[in-house]
Amino acid sequence: MLASGGGTNLQALLDACAERPGRPAPPARIVAVVSDRPTAGALDRARQAGVPGHTLAHPDNAAALLEVLQQERVDLVVLAGYLKKVPAAAVAHFRHRMINIHPALLPAFGGAGMYGRRVHATVLASGAPTSGATVHYVDDEYDRGPIIAQRTVPVLPGDTPEMLAARVLTVEHELLPAVVLELARRGLPDHPVRLT
Ligand code: GRF
Repeated sequence: MLASGGGTNLQALLDACAERPGRPAPPARIVAVVSDRPTAGALDRARQAGVPGHTLAHPDNAAALLEVLQQERVDLVVLAGYLKKVPAAAVAHFRHRMINIHPALLPAFGGAGMYGRRVHATVLASGAPTSGATVHYVDDEYDRGPIIAQRTVPVLPGDTPEMLAARVLTVEHELLPAVVLELARRGLPDHPVRLT
């Protein structure tokens, strides 16, 4: 898991992959959390969950990132609120095994600089009647890889960017675990999968 922020998407995944009495063991587990920020809340959540955390001193260094991912025997790389561009060599190594969640309905409202509050402010300014979350494969451009799944939310009269962000985040916390678990159940196909 690559994250730069508070890690609520990481937490949703940790909860979805936790072993619970009376339910079958989930087909996936979080083996490591990697951040470009030593103070990222995601690293605190990893520590609390007993998951190894790593900070990348040079996030643009593909070899350093690949070394961590291979050391931790990562099969699927999940970006959630990771604000750095993943080096192309790392994307190539994890082709169709690296996914990202974006808080809007791609291909609209994506691309460089479209993250955080700005995404929702742009959606509101556009007059779009709906927004939502998108899980997609990572390729060499921000937010452009094949879409795996999306979930929509209504834009409501009087919405502020913060209100819309909160509504989208709720469906992110449902969509990302659902996609990760389904990809795991399918054995992490090495070709693009479209779920919804
Ligand atoms: C989420 O809105 C995600 O879609 C975007 O960054 C935010 C991450 O939030 N890429 P968190 O750190 O998982 O709470």
